[in-house]
Amino acid sequence: MNMKVNIAGVEWKNPVTVASGTFGSGAEFAEFMDLGRLGAVTTKGVSNVPWQGNPTPRVAEVYGGMMNAIGLQNPGIDLFCERDIPFLRQFDTKIIVNVCGKSEEDYCEVVQRLANEDVDMLEINISCPNVKEGGIAFGQDPRAAEGITRAVKKYAKQPVIMKLSPNVTDIAGMAKAVEAGGADAVSLINTLTGMKIDIHRRTFALANRTGGVSGPAVHPIAVRMVYETAQAVKIPIIGMGGIASAEDAIEMILAGASAVSVGTANFHDPAVTTKIVDGIERYLEENHIEDIRELVGAVRD
Ligand SMILES: Cc1cc2nc3c(=O)[nH]c(=O)nc-3n(C[C@H](O)[C@H](O)[C@H](O)COP(=O)(O)O)c2cc1C
Repeated sequence: MNMKVNIAGVEWKNPVTVASGTFGSGAEFAEFMDLGRLGAVTTKGVSNVPWQGNPTPRVAEVYGGMMNAIGLQNPGIDLFCERDIPFLRQFDTKIIVNVCGKSEEDYCEVVQRLANEDVDMLEINISCPNVKEGGIAFGQDPRAAEGITRAVKKYAKQPVIMKLSPNVTDIAGMAKAVEAGGADAVSLINTLTGMKIDIHRRTFALANRTGGVSGPAVHPIAVRMVYETAQAVKIPIIGMGGIASAEDAIEMILAGASAVSVGTANFHDPAVTTKIVDGIERYLEENHIEDIRELVGAVRD
């Protein structure tokens, strides 16, 4: 039985990774699970210089998930390369570095800096709703998305995954735009912009006022967007949004994802990803499916 998938020329041992920003750089989770069980680890977003993130409070619970407005807090590329890459390299898994920036130059600087580092893939976040300049300007306009893809591809030595925002009316159009710009893969969805009001304090629950909604509540939206994207592009899709079980992951694969990322679910069960890997394997066995790749996009018109 085969669980291996090939994403833009990089072979993962199975189709499961973690969603950026919900897993730190892996160290926090290593005491609860074996990082070597994952197809890949996707790191928290990293920028050219350290970012402090948004003022607190910056997370809140909502029905079926959570909201966050962390604002891409991170220690910057120098500390990341020195500390996080060697840590992750100890494990038998692929490393996907999530990159954020405020301008084309910022993104390109990080991508260039990573060119000589021992990492397997880059995920370019053009979809964070919580930082005014933090990429969303690129993620909501197809021409800008194509342009930033083309720019980072000039410097990238690793395959480039463009991470798309669900806060658009035409997700397929955005996917086509980054494919035209040379993207090697797409990942989706990032969080959906929401707002929560604290009725006792009679003010916004998050200091940023709005935040990104994630978790099981967004899963059907993510499945629909992955499906629409799969009909529109040829490059592989990494599907995410509310995956909390093997069943959710399989649903996303049937909709057209070649691999899946697990985000918010890590917060209530830090070992959930290994259970998802085991559950997918069980599903293949029980249904006499020889190869996980037979399921990719198997549900269509
Ligand atoms: C606390 C938190 C932090 C996040 N940070 C990032 C980030 O740094 N970069 C990024 O591309 N996405 C970030 N995301 C979005 C997730 O990677 C993912 O796209 C989204 O949460 C949907 O998946 P989920 O429902 O499984 O969480 C973050 C999400 C959460 C909840």
